[in-house]
Amino acid sequence: MSGAIIPSLSPKATMTLLKIDNIVKDYPLPKKHLLRKAPVFRALHGVSFELEKGESFGLVGESGCGKSTLARIIMALDSPTSGSVFFDGQDLFEISHQALRNLRRNFQMVFQDPYSSLNPRKKILSVISEPLDTLERDISTKDRRERVADLLSEVGMNSGDMDKYPHEFSGGQRQRIAIARALITKPSLIVADESVSALDVSVQAQVLNLIMDLQEKYNLTYVFISHDLSVIEYVTQNLAVIYLGRIVEQGRTDRIFSQPRHPYTQMLLEAIPSVDPQVKKKKKGSPAISNLSESGCSFIDRCYLASEICRSKIPELEDTGGHMVACHNSNAE
Ligand SMILES: Nc1ncnc2c1ncn2[C@@H]1O[C@H](COP(=O)(O)OP(=O)(O)OP(=O)(O)O)[C@@H](O)[C@H]1O
Ligand SMILES: [Mg+2]
Repeated sequence: MSGAIIPSLSPKATMTLLKIDNIVKDYPLPKKHLLRKAPVFRALHGVSFELEKGESFGLVGESGCGKSTLARIIMALDSPTSGSVFFDGQDLFEISHQALRNLRRNFQMVFQDPYSSLNPRKKILSVISEPLDTLERDISTKDRRERVADLLSEVGMNSGDMDKYPHEFSGGQRQRIAIARALITKPSLIVADESVSALDVSVQAQVLNLIMDLQEKYNLTYVFISHDLSVIEYVTQNLAVIYLGRIVEQGRTDRIFSQPRHPYTQMLLEAIPSVDPQVKKKKKGSPAISNLSESGCSFIDRCYLASEICRSKIPELEDTGGHMVACHNSNAE
């Protein structure tokens, strides 16, 4: 039996594969905070977006903005405080455990650190084929080896590598192995959480090219998480910029790169050398979680456009004629 992934019959058909609907996630605060007004820390404040099949969607924002929290919820590894995730029309948090288990083969995750994400005591054969232990328990050893050999070649490695251990490979090779493991269940959605951040720039480019080739070949849908906008620009067609648990700008990647509207997006883009020098200098800083206001814009203390309304009203995501922006003053320049 061939282990190759079966390409979709209609690679360019458009249909919603993933729908994130108003996701809120609260984490309990440590005990010392219990006397404060809010007994929880809200990591996500009602995040919504949809992905078409075959789309590559970027999620970008600084550390602590809620990207991995959202990734874990999309993978049903953690549940939201409220809101829904629909995969292929099925609500991941409403269907039965059995139905969710069956559905899991369709979505897989690739993590950031290729050193800690592969079990050092297991050979690559076991590492890559591990998801089959629960999903295809009666698969023969021969079929298992064939599937792994096909996948290793798919990610640019040799079939003989399956009998080696993770420590025998470089970071880039390990990330190829992690991608092969994600592919073994023939998923339609892959969530890549900072999956190339730990790699050298040249190796990063090779792995990104592999990721894009695989997408084209198998009509994969990606949620691509990164704090690095140049990676997002290269890999994605659409993106959401997330700041302290809220999407502040969302739309086509090329459009947001050429016409960033939100001061936070502009600030992130400023960090990329190739970006338009016209973009104004803004106040810098880092996410001020302690200053989080429930009544105003959470970016206010870092924003060069801040005005009175920003203190009293949380800006909603609104269509600015092309893409969505959550800013009271983004048209005021
Ligand atoms: N299990 C948890 N318990 C409590 N707070 C958490 C937990 N996981 C995340 N947080 C908090 O939620 C916020 C979002 O964290 P998250 O890991 O989603 O950020 P991130 O955008 O992925 O950051 P990074 O770029 O550093 O990976 C942070 O303030 C974090 O401290
Ligand atoms: Mg993270």
